[in-house]
Amino acid sequence: MTNEKLNIGIILGSTREGRVSPQVGEWVKGIADERGDANYEIVDIADYNLPFLGTTDGKEPGIAKWNEKLADLDGFVFVVQEYNHSISASLKNAIDFAREAWNNKAAGIVSYGSTGGARAAEHLRGIMGELMIADVRAHPTLSLFTDFEDFSVFKPAELHLDNVNAMLDQVIAWSGALKTLR
Ligand SMILES: Cc1cc2nc3c(=O)[nH]c(=O)nc-3n(C[C@H](O)[C@H](O)[C@H](O)COP(=O)(O)O)c2cc1C
Repeated sequence: MTNEKLNIGIILGSTREGRVSPQVGEWVKGIADERGDANYEIVDIADYNLPFLGTTDGKEPGIAKWNEKLADLDGFVFVVQEYNHSISASLKNAIDFAREAWNNKAAGIVSYGSTGGARAAEHLRGIMGELMIADVRAHPTLSLFTDFEDFSVFKPAELHLDNVNAMLDQVIAWSGALKTLR
């Protein structure tokens, strides 16, 4: 094993016009970068222009690029927003476009919604089980009512900071451990 830093992708789960996920992702990245314990990067599904799975010949360059990006990563932080009590269709579609690139890696969740995005996060945990992604316990849940102004300007309460760091502690520990398995 080398002492190289782990690569952790902060995956923005929403591609909606007017989405708030970039604000949340940048906040997570700011906290993560302060730690200096890994290479953290924002991974925006929207950048890959993924088609709807199965509706094309699968030769769009974004599909290969998406898989290459995931393959480069040792672990993930999913920025998850609740859509009809689950994850967004765009996140599920992007997840379905890869398989091996997800396997034997760790992930944390930062979710938001009217009830902190908890229902979406629990659905994502079930999906991660199938993809052999080890999902960590610590899970910051952000409220659309109290952590956002007018549901659009992100103003997180102070209390979430410790929770984000606890989640990252666990993601780093498990991502390092699982790297030895791969
Ligand atoms: C189609 C749709 C369904 C939604 N369903 C829920 C829901 O079930 N529970 C919830 O808490 N918020 C729900 N919301 C509110 C979203 O969580 C909120 O708009 C959030 O900002 C979406 O994340 P984004 O801005 O990053 O796309 C829904 C929003 C949309 C557009």
